[in-house]
Amino acid sequence: MNGVWKEASSYVELRSPYSGEKIADVAQADEADIGEAIRAASEAAAVMAALPAYRRSAILEKAAALLEERKEEMARLIAFEAAKPIRTARGEIARTVQTYKFAAMEACRIHGETVPVDAAPGGEGRIAFTLRKPLGVVGAITPFNFPFNLVAHKVGPAIAAGNTVVLKPAGQTPLSALALADVFAEAGLPAGALNIVPGKGSIVGEKLVQDPRVAAITFTGSPEVGIAMKQKAGLKRVTLELGSNSGLIIDATADVTPELIDRCIVGAFSFSGQVCISIQRIFVHESKYAEFAGRFKEAAERLVIGDPLDEATDLSAMISVKEAERMQAWVDSAVAAGAVVWTGGRMLAPGLFPPTILTGVPGDEPVSCQEVFGPLVTLTPFRELDEAIEAINDSRYGLQAGIYTRDIQAAMRAADRLEVGGVMINDFPTFRVDNMPYGGVKESGFGREGVKYAVEEMTELKLVCIKL
Ligand code: SIN
Repeated sequence: MNGVWKEASSYVELRSPYSGEKIADVAQADEADIGEAIRAASEAAAVMAALPAYRRSAILEKAAALLEERKEEMARLIAFEAAKPIRTARGEIARTVQTYKFAAMEACRIHGETVPVDAAPGGEGRIAFTLRKPLGVVGAITPFNFPFNLVAHKVGPAIAAGNTVVLKPAGQTPLSALALADVFAEAGLPAGALNIVPGKGSIVGEKLVQDPRVAAITFTGSPEVGIAMKQKAGLKRVTLELGSNSGLIIDATADVTPELIDRCIVGAFSFSGQVCISIQRIFVHESKYAEFAGRFKEAAERLVIGDPLDEATDLSAMISVKEAERMQAWVDSAVAAGAVVWTGGRMLAPGLFPPTILTGVPGDEPVSCQEVFGPLVTLTPFRELDEAIEAINDSRYGLQAGIYTRDIQAAMRAADRLEVGGVMINDFPTFRVDNMPYGGVKESGFGREGVKYAVEEMTELKLVCIKL
């Protein structure tokens, strides 16, 4: 906080989700701490707003370079605290470096536009243009599933736009966020511009949402928490990245290639499905269903489950035993309602869930209509494309969806009809690179991330009109 490490009045033990071993004692901010962090961020807001674009860009570039230098250490941190398999964790760090580089570029591109006010009678004799001004203090609340890159998607654009940040990392993954403090200090970020405050949502999160000095909230997490925040946030800007039960369509013209199977495996089971755009529901044309189901099952059963630090591991423990138990209860409920376990379906050890594929799942079962956030996929055959599109749309969520097809009409129909923030044609709904607009409709969210789009959310448009 304010460029210095601060002791807290209380600490909690952080344990590895995989081994249960203690990893750290983590400071828990109290009301006074979070108040002090907001004060530091408010006082630094003028300094950041005055920092020229090339300096903000250089700080972000340097932060990206420092992360690149320390990439193995950072990846291991994610593997320890989130049980993300090390190969997947390395991929996250590579993306994080890229996200900060995009933020560095974006810092130099923020601009307004001229407005032809003489298009309206009475507007003649004037020149008008817009500027984009920083908002001030951004309150960022981040999830456990991408402890570096989803932090980067909030901190990067906020700094690019000349704001300051108070960051509350997820309870299970504070170490990755805290590691950023040194990175940004070394990169030359002014004191107070980034304050990292681990603690309870009911204390730190609440204060960020309610404090009038915080101009914007950017949150990734559950719809329940996000919607409650938006209701309490009053006139603050709010960006919400929430849940999904993402769907993929494999239509009659698609070939069931090894690449398609591989994409479905990665999309469904990477980081045990704890990804907002993880594939949860696959709809396969009836002519391809048997071939796809057989090959998908074989590939899922080849995945290696184990220690996140082992190079061979594909899947490790879910973030908590409680979450794995919830998923078990949802699987049991689906089976009681008539679903068939095609593979998996039983927790192997506390927290350790194997890749699970269910068939014949009624649409109103939680594994279908809620967000599982676990290594689970439902398979459903369809006859007409519109049936599959309607099934995907029959959801409280709408983040991303995908369709594999060689029929341009089918592709364009899906693009037009699917009620989501992004449609991937000939790829999985899990596709994301860090400069694309990312966000959902319905209960999947509000606003967009993807650095340029987040900068828009984190700046205020100001009009200047000159009467000649
Ligand atoms: C998320 O889980 O919302 C982020 C997915 C990603 O960045 O790949």
